[in-house]
Amino acid sequence: MIIRDIATLKQTIRGWKQAGETIGFVPTMGALHEGHLSLVTQARAQAQRVIVSIFVNPTQFNNPTDLATYPRTEAQDIALLGHVDAIFIPAAETMYPAGFSSTVRVSAMAGILEGAHRPGHFDGMATVVTKLFSLTEADSAFFGEKDWQQLQIVRRFVQDLNLPIDIMACPTLRESDGLALSSRNRRLSPEGRKSAPALHAILQQTATAIRQGHPIAEALDKGRAALVAAGFGPIDYLACCEAESLTPVTTVFTTKHDNVGLRLLVAAALESVRLIDNIVI
Ligand code: PAF
Repeated sequence: MIIRDIATLKQTIRGWKQAGETIGFVPTMGALHEGHLSLVTQARAQAQRVIVSIFVNPTQFNNPTDLATYPRTEAQDIALLGHVDAIFIPAAETMYPAGFSSTVRVSAMAGILEGAHRPGHFDGMATVVTKLFSLTEADSAFFGEKDWQQLQIVRRFVQDLNLPIDIMACPTLRESDGLALSSRNRRLSPEGRKSAPALHAILQQTATAIRQGHPIAEALDKGRAALVAAGFGPIDYLACCEAESLTPVTTVFTTKHDNVGLRLLVAAALESVRLIDNIVI
């Protein structure tokens, strides 16, 4: 069932709730690929009803060209989602009617890493996701680990605002050569596509060096140099952070990090296509 308005969405959800059914929710911006479908599969396994939203959220784009060129493949997306209970596809005016003026901001994490390079991005994301949680009344929502910082921000505001929803993290899906699945990969030339897996390979090399006790700042410098040598640039960040708080860690790996967990995160452009990835250390 395709739903474009809030009244129909509410009515449908009311019926499910009255029947005592649980709802799993997968928020997307469309241009669906196997990574999104794996979130849907997990939602299907854990909830009785599954809602997927498709909404290219204007407020999380700091660059108008990026918004204008974001791939819109609605018919194809709907065909791929044949098995879900509801696909919610609101118009921008439905989500942001005249007079809309509220923002959800996770101040500790909104301005670092991705946030430092995409001002306002996480405020727009957190605001629309909060609205979608409220509209879908979902019991659980499914997010990919590929957008690690997004996942931590969502977890933070769900906890801070006592939202009654479980956030489920799903592992990053990769091509056989290690490249993380992303809607942006389709913008790479055949040549760029061949170079792109270096992003993951360099993350792995850097993580190994850090685990082996190399000073973190040195390992990161080496990783950045390797990215440049592989044709990436500019490199927005290659950072080693505490996994949940995203506090940067720059000294040497110690066993205390086994408790907090460390994550290595990268954003770098290849042929002007900005790619992101992250792995556990
Ligand atoms: O990850 C995305 O596709 C978007 O940030 C999300 C969660 C659908 C919010 O617009």
